[in-house]
Amino acid sequence: MRAQFITLDGIDGAGKSTNLAVIKHWFEAHHLPVLFTREPGGTPVGEALRDILLNPATKAGLHTETLLMFAARRQHLDDVILPALEKGIHVVSDRFTDATFAYQGGGRGVPLEAISILENWVQGDFRPDLTILLDVPLSVSMQRIDANREKDRFEQENADFFTRVREVYLNRAAAAPDRYAVVDSNRERNEVQTDLEMVLNKHFGISA
Ligand code: TYD
Repeated sequence: MRAQFITLDGIDGAGKSTNLAVIKHWFEAHHLPVLFTREPGGTPVGEALRDILLNPATKAGLHTETLLMFAARRQHLDDVILPALEKGIHVVSDRFTDATFAYQGGGRGVPLEAISILENWVQGDFRPDLTILLDVPLSVSMQRIDANREKDRFEQENADFFTRVREVYLNRAAAAPDRYAVVDSNRERNEVQTDLEMVLNKHFGISA
């Protein structure tokens, strides 16, 4: 099996951090070479763009924001993701293009067709092999965001924004069930963990 590109996505407050640790542990337990990275970010240029994008003081229009996400992504692909995959190292990215469709498309209202055009231009036909979508009801997401002391520029958005974000994620997953695994993360940690391990076992053809 060639090296796999796996992305983890979902609305803010869906529990990415906790579950990333589960995924890391799974790769360690199976002795598979893997690189963990994140978006926006993953490179010096990308991290600088992340600072701009997440800073509540930034005043960027919706199209500028979308273009900056893709600018960071192109650098990330060139410098990190594609070279690792070529060396046979699996890559797990904390967010990827699904987040642009969900946040800039669903949340901000950038036409999804425009995002598709940018996706094709920036990525060619490169897509994740597997996207794990962590899903929680909006009320849970909002509670978890509220518990954060300092909110970034996206976390400051309201419930309507996150309702639209979640809807786009779920629509995309429903439209391509082979590529997405939707994991209900509004459950006990160990139940979510078992689900995640099952998803990874299945994807890599490993019997538990
Ligand atoms: P997040 O991944 O939630 O990081 P942390 O867990 O450290 O808070 O923060 C990234 C934010 O960027 C998140 O609110 C979603 C947003 N985002 C977009 O709006 N579009 C994108 O394309 C990406 C990759 C992220």
